[in-house]
Amino acid sequence: MAESVPTLTLNNGYQMPQLGLGTWRAKPNEVGAAVKQAIDLGYRHIDTAWVYGNEREIGDALKDVLSDGKVKREELYIVTKLWATFMAPECVRSGFMESLNNLQLDYVDLYLIHMPQALKSGASKSEVMKNDKGEELSDDVDYVDTWQEVEKLVDDGLAKSIGVSNFNHKQIDRILRIAKHRPVTNQIEVHPYLTRTKLLEWCQSYEIIVTAYSPLCCRGRPWAKAVEPDITRDPLLLSIAERHGKTCAQVALRFAIQRGCSVITKSVHRDRLQENIDVFDFKLTTTELISIEALNRNWMIGGERIWARRQNHPHYPFHEEF
Ligand SMILES: NC(=O)c1ccc[n+]([C@@H]2O[C@H](COP(=O)([O-])OP(=O)(O)OC[C@H]3O[C@@H](n4cnc5c(N)ncnc54)[C@H](OP(=O)(O)O)[C@@H]3O)[C@@H](O)[C@H]2O)c1
Repeated sequence: MAESVPTLTLNNGYQMPQLGLGTWRAKPNEVGAAVKQAIDLGYRHIDTAWVYGNEREIGDALKDVLSDGKVKREELYIVTKLWATFMAPECVRSGFMESLNNLQLDYVDLYLIHMPQALKSGASKSEVMKNDKGEELSDDVDYVDTWQEVEKLVDDGLAKSIGVSNFNHKQIDRILRIAKHRPVTNQIEVHPYLTRTKLLEWCQSYEIIVTAYSPLCCRGRPWAKAVEPDITRDPLLLSIAERHGKTCAQVALRFAIQRGCSVITKSVHRDRLQENIDVFDFKLTTTELISIEALNRNWMIGGERIWARRQNHPHYPFHEEF
């Protein structure tokens, strides 16, 4: 029996299911099956991105599920993202259309600017141009100009909602000053070791939902060091999990949910997909929430390598405190 995931009301009135399936690093020939299993278990919100290279397989899976009549298009919440090599205003539409064609849909529910930093592409948009030191070259594009092109996708009925990802509050503020359509979400890394409280509260004060990515600390990342903690073995989370008859992963997801975030987590295994959606039948106490918040160590895990090589970009988002 499929569980029902609660929805959050966005600042434009649309509803977003509060829990979604992440698909970054889900391998080819695994991701389509994961999407089908997830939908079978009650997931309706699926997160992907042009740069993940899996939109086509996800699109095939969605096509099957929709043609089987298991769900209707309007019950699904499909999210994808404009990659950094498409941020020049004249490239936005073609970047979006590639995603839409891959997904084989007429519209997406949410389209995000993947990050504030535009990158120069090489021969193809998937190749980022580098200098002789191997450093990626930035493209001289202001994300505000990108935003104004992305807004046209809403006007044309191609994206129901639009938002940003990996933006700091000053960058969002610049968008809000000119926006015809406000960003509905800022999708950022959030978990017990990186709580982002100031940015979360700032976004909430502007009715911008924070979508928490890597809520399980990007478990299984190949660049993890042996000494680094595993969220599923954290002593505090273990004790809280035991009290509720839940797992550490479920407590970490519940932590995001009770802070008002939408949360996206990736798995390609049915048992974990089930475990991760089974988080709406218990509640953390205020004391538990405060104690989990105290685990914060401002540890950016998911994107640590990726961000490290983009620190000199003029729109690098993390020089700001939040
Ligand atoms: N906007 C951005 O820049 C950005 C950046 C990063 C991520 N994201 C999005 O956010 C999604 C989630 O983040 P993420 O993929 O980095 O990591 P995550 O959800 O924190 O962790 C996923 C990893 O944890 C494992 N896992 C899942 N459920 C588990 C459970 N119940 N117990 C133990 N292990 C479990 C998965 O393995 P198995 O698959 O083997 O089960 C996978 O390796 C991404 O997939 C992507 O869609 C966006």
